[in-house]
Amino acid sequence: MLLALKKYLLIPKLVKLSSAAPRDPRDAWDQFWGSVRATGSGGDVLWDSGDDHEMLGYAEQLERQLNPDLPIVDVGCGNGTFSRRLAAHFPHVLGVDVSPNAIARAHSESAGLDRVSYLAADMTAPGASRAVADALAAAGVAGDANIFIRGVLHVLKRPAQAALAEELHPLVGKRGRVFLAETDFRGNAVEYVCHLGATLHSIPAPLEKAIRGLPMPGRFGPVQRKRAFPELRWDVVEDGPAVIETRPLTSATRSEQIPGYFSVLQAR
Ligand SMILES: C[S@@+](CC[C@H](N)C(=O)[O-])C[C@H]1O[C@@H](n2cnc3c(N)ncnc32)[C@H](O)[C@@H]1O
Repeated sequence: MLLALKKYLLIPKLVKLSSAAPRDPRDAWDQFWGSVRATGSGGDVLWDSGDDHEMLGYAEQLERQLNPDLPIVDVGCGNGTFSRRLAAHFPHVLGVDVSPNAIARAHSESAGLDRVSYLAADMTAPGASRAVADALAAAGVAGDANIFIRGVLHVLKRPAQAALAEELHPLVGKRGRVFLAETDFRGNAVEYVCHLGATLHSIPAPLEKAIRGLPMPGRFGPVQRKRAFPELRWDVVEDGPAVIETRPLTSATRSEQIPGYFSVLQAR
């Protein structure tokens, strides 16, 4: 019992680390991406596993549930890891991120790919859907679009989740669908960081970087999805458990796995 409680001695360290994060999440994300030196399995980015294992798990659902003739918008694309993988399944991918530094990185990591474009935009801001529609039109793929969101809603506060969902509504139109995959860890912040390898003696560097600079993540499961995507506006086509993979933290080569949730949605 006492041993199980010992992990809570981490709390002062976590509070101290996270108190340095910028107050405005947009600044926090942009500073984070500006300080990233490397991505992939040996890099600085906690959620970038460096392999396509997680994406391969989504491929069957994407092929079965989303119209393959429509473009897809990767909302909160970061360095474009998933945008590049989505390009194998859809005629065009538009990656959108609030951080100009993330978009600059996504551009440089996607050099030579001609069916992927990027846009810096806050997807929770009123009018974001207009900017995305204009960018799709500029890429020659105007009209309804599919949406892919991985690991973004769980880092937003409740009103921002709802605002983002509302911006997606006009983008999907009648033919597009939303595919979301988010972490849905059933535990508190201490249990979460311990799950990812934090101990009283050390915290894996990419995890410490995220704690130090970014908004504290929450969980996003069926309850949160129902609030953000209300039944009056959205139909759930399919949902269920997912596994979100991180960069290796506790071994040199094996990704960590975080329990997650996926959902496929259609606008009413
Ligand atoms: C945990 S990362 C996931 C990145 C990417 N989806 C992936 O799985 O590799 C969350 C991303 O969401 C972006 N983001 C946060 N708030 C956003 C917003 N309001 N609009 C657009 N992007 C946002 C961040 O800049 C960051 O790149």
